[in-house]
Amino acid sequence: MELGSPALTSLAADWRRTLFPDASNATFADGYAQAVTFGLLMARAQGIILSDGLDRASRALRQTNLLIGTALRVLTDDVDNQATLETSLRTLTRVLDVVHWPTISRGDPEAWLYFYELFLSVYDNALRKKTGSYYTPPEIVTAMVRLVDEALRDGRRFGVAEGLASPDVTLADPAMGTGTFLLGVIQRIADRIETDQGEGAVPGAIRAALARIIGFEIQFGPFAVAQLRIAAEVVELVKADTADREHVALRLFLTDTLGNPNEEHEYIPYGLSPLAESRRSADRIKRTEPITVVIGNPPYKNNAEGRGGWIESGTGNTVVPLAEWQPPRGWRVGAHAKHLRNLYVYFWRWATWKVFGGSIITPEAPPVTPRQGVVCFITVAGFLNGPGFQKMRADLRRDTDEIWVIDCSPEGHQPPVASRVFQAVQQPVCIVLAVRLANCDPAMPARVRFRSLPAGRREDKFAAISAVTLDSEGWIDCPSDWRAAFLPASTGEWAAFPALDDFFIYNGSGVMPGRTWVIAPDAESLRRRWDRLVRERDPERKELLFHPHMPRGELGDRHTTKVPSENLRGCESRMVPVASDIGPVVAPIRYGFRSFDRQWIIPDYRLLNRPNPTIWERRSARQIYLTALMAHSPTSGPAITFTHLIPDLHHYKGSFGGRAFPLWADAAATEPNVRPVLLIRLSETYGREVTAEDVVAYLAAIAANPAYTARFAPDLVQPGLRIPLTVDPALFDEAVQLGREVIWLHTFGERFVDAAAGRPAGPPRLAQSPPRIPAAGEIPSRPEHMPDTISYDATNRYLRIGGGHIDNVPPAVWAYEVSGKHVLTQWFSYRRRNRERPQIGDKRPPSPLGDIQPAGWPADYTTELLNVLHVLARLVLLEPDQADLLDRICAAPTLNEEVLRPD
Ligand SMILES: C[S@@+](CC[C@H](N)C(=O)[O-])C[C@H]1O[C@@H](n2cnc3c(N)ncnc32)[C@H](O)[C@@H]1O
Repeated sequence: MELGSPALTSLAADWRRTLFPDASNATFADGYAQAVTFGLLMARAQGIILSDGLDRASRALRQTNLLIGTALRVLTDDVDNQATLETSLRTLTRVLDVVHWPTISRGDPEAWLYFYELFLSVYDNALRKKTGSYYTPPEIVTAMVRLVDEALRDGRRFGVAEGLASPDVTLADPAMGTGTFLLGVIQRIADRIETDQGEGAVPGAIRAALARIIGFEIQFGPFAVAQLRIAAEVVELVKADTADREHVALRLFLTDTLGNPNEEHEYIPYGLSPLAESRRSADRIKRTEPITVVIGNPPYKNNAEGRGGWIESGTGNTVVPLAEWQPPRGWRVGAHAKHLRNLYVYFWRWATWKVFGGSIITPEAPPVTPRQGVVCFITVAGFLNGPGFQKMRADLRRDTDEIWVIDCSPEGHQPPVASRVFQAVQQPVCIVLAVRLANCDPAMPARVRFRSLPAGRREDKFAAISAVTLDSEGWIDCPSDWRAAFLPASTGEWAAFPALDDFFIYNGSGVMPGRTWVIAPDAESLRRRWDRLVRERDPERKELLFHPHMPRGELGDRHTTKVPSENLRGCESRMVPVASDIGPVVAPIRYGFRSFDRQWIIPDYRLLNRPNPTIWERRSARQIYLTALMAHSPTSGPAITFTHLIPDLHHYKGSFGGRAFPLWADAAATEPNVRPVLLIRLSETYGREVTAEDVVAYLAAIAANPAYTARFAPDLVQPGLRIPLTVDPALFDEAVQLGREVIWLHTFGERFVDAAAGRPAGPPRLAQSPPRIPAAGEIPSRPEHMPDTISYDATNRYLRIGGGHIDNVPPAVWAYEVSGKHVLTQWFSYRRRNRERPQIGDKRPPSPLGDIQPAGWPADYTTELLNVLHVLARLVLLEPDQADLLDRICAAPTLNEEVLRPD
């Protein structure tokens, strides 16, 4: 991209040297355009008329001593620039001149706060996600600032009577966005000084505090907004008159917080010296200035490998800060450690390095000696219990004395929008406050306390957090093991039950195809999609249809010209690249796409990003897979489900992956995948031989059961299923009988077939009041009437599918859920006329091959829908028996974890 003017080109070069070495011309142009636009907008908010000339606006802004004035000055000082950008500037001026800020803000003083987030979501949602720009509601900020102030003032902790107002306290927000936390801090100081010393003491206290309040931000837009908001507030509080304003010095810096603080910047660039100075001062602070409090809401972005700057890669002469949180090999959590590559983790690492000190040596400063201080962040909650974060938790326990955790999302994943603290963030979020006192003993793990805000509306959460103090009622202690989760310990019976994953030798991921067109509810569409791909002669178009995985913009390991090196066991082998394959499709097979949703897949190694060869090696006519969430907890419905088909990665609930636990460890179905020690102990306990099939059936009776999920909901705040295992042989046998029927139902009559026991081969049928399609309810098959809606008529117990309907559908069948996923709606969503999925964020649209689908409603769909209705109805009938059995098992003695310990 050409910038078009020598002045702009040199400015871009300077910008790179000064601030962001990796910025492309496009990134520069974007940042610069944001700076100018926001500068002009802010000029308007202050009532400055733009059509009077940009130089006047720039002069007026410069009077406020804000960095934004520098950006505008480059524009206005250089006639060449103005000429280059004339058309854009004229339009911008015309548009912005009619901006009436009081109307836009509707008098809301917080209007600026969300303005930038809203702007980004419309202007560039990818940039918003890349920079993790989600801004914190003031109610949360106020509470976090108050809790930090409380820790500082508390005599048993820091004992600094003036708290945040103390001359000994330096505070930084390393990702300040539009400055909400710093404003919260300034307001807190003003309020406390006014209460304690009187209104007249406020200006002096604020002036003094400004020397100790620091903000970093990487994007020009929010930075400009932060400067404006904070300057306006400070001017008000210190009662500065116009002449005095220039001397209200704010310590806000445009910088990459995670960048290398040791880099030398000798070059003083043209026109940008204030920016160069900003970067230099920020580096100096990072290297040498002790900071007592780091507070804020750092960005979140997973898969952020390579974006953690100095924290992630270090420089030649320092330890790599993030590496200290890498779990040692012997802990065997290697695969999970990838979750450390998230922006918020980099910021946690930066903050703990900066506040608590540690082993990292910088050239200019002596080894950072451990110091006292506070880190308080609101972030996504993965690190509270993720296995990959064990070393991070151990280090936090070692380097601090007390840690408080406030779970803001007790609803779990993808909660209703009205319940979210950040409306655009689907993941659970938490506030964590970590305090290190002067005499912190590294041999003593910190005391970790936990509480949840109430589930439900965000307003209720705001009200609840406003009453929380560090020592109020309701905190629950967490375990003190170094690596344990920052979550309450499982208590009582639950903690003693053996864990589900300890029942099995192996568990693995289901298939992660990486492209949706290789799966369909009917095999014919897959054939047609493949044929279309083969017919395509244009290589580029063919690649587009194939839809390769594109990590970092490059072709991944599945694409049309890739020469395959493997194939899937038991499936036809095609050892030529897709591009030169003119044969028919590798014959589709049935696929366990979702719980109760059997679809078809092309079992072709070349088309599946991560097929997981192990589950293909074990495929057989006797295999059964139990699927369950692993890193998350189920919230409703059965906690586990079963399929006899190769399962999808998201088989259990359609999102959040999970694990598949096969019954057999080999394709011959002779080697059980259940741990031998368990089979031996159970055989001893019950006085009869216990088989792997018995164990899996027992698991089905206990946990493929909504009563299980409801009963143990309080224990399931921490992911990981545990199984009450009875010592009573009669109860065990009862469960096995019940569980065989559950699995027979989940596998649509394909496994645990025993006609004598009422489980004949083939799709299960409900004997009484079965679902039926009456003559008037025919589901229209013609393309023009292809159903697009599903609904339930509770009065008539009808399930409506487009213009047709099915009789005898009980309300509980319609309501059937698997961890919050409504089974029938989800099943239908893959078969309806319009199957488009909402495009989440900046994801690439799927391959057009996915548009190839049946024109009308095939009879097969109706058949399968009736199969699903029969299965669900029979499962619902079993639920009371399962609930009753679970009650009786939990009321009687159970085996504890020891049962799985090898001698
Ligand atoms: C989640 S927002 C929070 C902003 C603010 N603390 C709040 O809560 O309203 C994170 C901010 O961090 C900024 N940011 C992202 N990466 C950064 C980096 N490496 N250095 C400094 N700021 C960064 C983003 O531009 C964004 O404004």
